[in-house]
Amino acid sequence: MTTTKEFDDTALVCIQDYENRAKEVLPPPVFNWYMDYADEGQTMKDCKNAFKRYRLRPRVLRDVSNRQFSTTVLGHPVSFPICISPTAGQRFADIEGDKTTARAAETLNTIMIVSSSAFFTFEDISLAAPNAMLWFQIHLFKDQKVTRFYVKQAERAGFKAVVVTIDSPVLGNKRSMKRGFVAPREEYRLVNLYDPNNPEVRSAIANGDIALWDYWWEQMVNSETWEGIHWLRNITKLPIVVKGVLTGDSAREAVQAGVDAILVSAHGGRQLDGVPATIDALPEVVKAVKDSGVEVYMDGGVRQGTDVFKALALGARAVFLGRPIIWGLANDGENGVKKVLEIVRDEFSVTMALAGCSKLDDIKASMVIHESQYLSKL
Ligand code: FNR
Repeated sequence: MTTTKEFDDTALVCIQDYENRAKEVLPPPVFNWYMDYADEGQTMKDCKNAFKRYRLRPRVLRDVSNRQFSTTVLGHPVSFPICISPTAGQRFADIEGDKTTARAAETLNTIMIVSSSAFFTFEDISLAAPNAMLWFQIHLFKDQKVTRFYVKQAERAGFKAVVVTIDSPVLGNKRSMKRGFVAPREEYRLVNLYDPNNPEVRSAIANGDIALWDYWWEQMVNSETWEGIHWLRNITKLPIVVKGVLTGDSAREAVQAGVDAILVSAHGGRQLDGVPATIDALPEVVKAVKDSGVEVYMDGGVRQGTDVFKALALGARAVFLGRPIIWGLANDGENGVKKVLEIVRDEFSVTMALAGCSKLDDIKASMVIHESQYLSKL
């Protein structure tokens, strides 16, 4: 047999390949910090493994020659239901960090959530990718002035939604931090905190960037409640997404607080260890918000097209990727992020075809069942 193409076993063809290569190219403390999880990492590992506990039930002999997976997320058209979760420290993987990711999101027409710990201003990121659909992530900071400053900056920069991370009243027990992970000082610039009218921030800047980082951490230790979401509702017209919901009860509270969407997330296993895998938590949240008009998304452990299919079948409108985006950045900057998104998109397209679906509405809850339902019949 003759082949025209050499077999290349170093080609990066799946997200695991990108992760393996990122491990080779990144300095070990940086890779370990990205990979890190709270405590023993039960939830981090389970988020990925739990997908494998669901089985697909394909329909056959359907015409799948023409597949359509563009959709809307909070009313914004996207080319596919695979978006980008907020991750801090993108600059450790690529010097232009969040700007590079935004460019990839712009080219592929998907949503990027920019972390509150981005090392570029919201304005700079939106200037780098003027047509990108950008959302921004914040915490309900202890000092409402800080939260308000973030929101107003992002509004001015044309961001389209605010994502409030609600699973982090304190930082989780991450072991890399205890081992003393310290990024280069120059990378520590949390520029979106630079409110010249806030005296505390001014003095933090005067004290140097490390003090600013400490200031940010101190802001995280907060006593905010759902009242904070009501307050936010009054200071911005942007849609509000809450990130970090894992139960039906929290989902109902979120609906009552007037949010527009919920991102089911376990923070990549970096906050409370022992919470369920997000794909397991998703159906309960979807059920709790049924008929409310609130959209539900999920992140955590999404690594291949079948994962996307399962999440959509179980009620997510879209999925978001965290670490895989960083692996793309670390390998090949903008091109790497695009490749990562394209790989998952193309795998999803094949999954749709093999499952007999030519449009997103064809993906039904009955096409995915938990393995326990098969085992119980044995
Ligand atoms: C995160 N995550 C996160 N979440 C958030 O709301 N604000 C943030 O600044 C960060 N920063 C951050 C840094 C790093 C290095 C990681 C790995 C994660 C959590 C992130 O948004 C997302 O919930 C998870 O990463 C999703 O899981 P996967 O895709 O990484 O498995």
